[in-house]
Amino acid sequence: MATAVYPGSFDPITYGHLDIIRRAAEVFDKVIVGVLKNQTKTPLFNFEERVDMIREVVKDYPNVEVVSFHGLLIEFTKQVHADVIVRGIRAVSDFEYELMMAQTNKQLHPDVETMFFATSAKYSFLSSSTVRELAMFDGDITPFVPDYVRQKVYEKIDEHRQTEISGDPASGCQEGSGAD
Ligand code: PNS
Repeated sequence: MATAVYPGSFDPITYGHLDIIRRAAEVFDKVIVGVLKNQTKTPLFNFEERVDMIREVVKDYPNVEVVSFHGLLIEFTKQVHADVIVRGIRAVSDFEYELMMAQTNKQLHPDVETMFFATSAKYSFLSSSTVRELAMFDGDITPFVPDYVRQKVYEKIDEHRQTEISGDPASGCQEGSGAD
């Protein structure tokens, strides 16, 4: 039985991520979506919120589980007894980082393979950071995220605006790497 981990920040999950999850769920017996807790940049959503959104939008996939993790991806992969790490590649620009990550993980645990899925062409430009930025400037994110996620994103942006108005300068909206 082959189990794959599909890791990421998912801040928030987009149709591009969902496309990879759906296709991976057809290839592997089980897919565990691994949601990263430890992040260097402050996410817009905390990990509980990101997990909640993903659970909601994958609820119709019987062989997909959503689990958050902290620390090294490869250790998480071993803990959940997965054989494969799945990553999506949108363009050549993703490749260098993804190859470095795959090789590092291979060095740490040679029995875990990384497999790349080519992102569907219609999502090749899409990233969570694009969605966050569009929403921040009142752009329409309907084509890029499921309804449930869209609502949560606009609610969160409103929350941040209220916080800013009330004088707290903290904002979770930061420039993404483009690799999310
Ligand atoms: O959605 P993202 O931000 O592109 O996902 C990146 C992720 C979570 C896969 C990567 O940052 C990761 O694996 N982080 C965990 C820490 C780790 O294992 N680092 C070593 C890999 S070189």
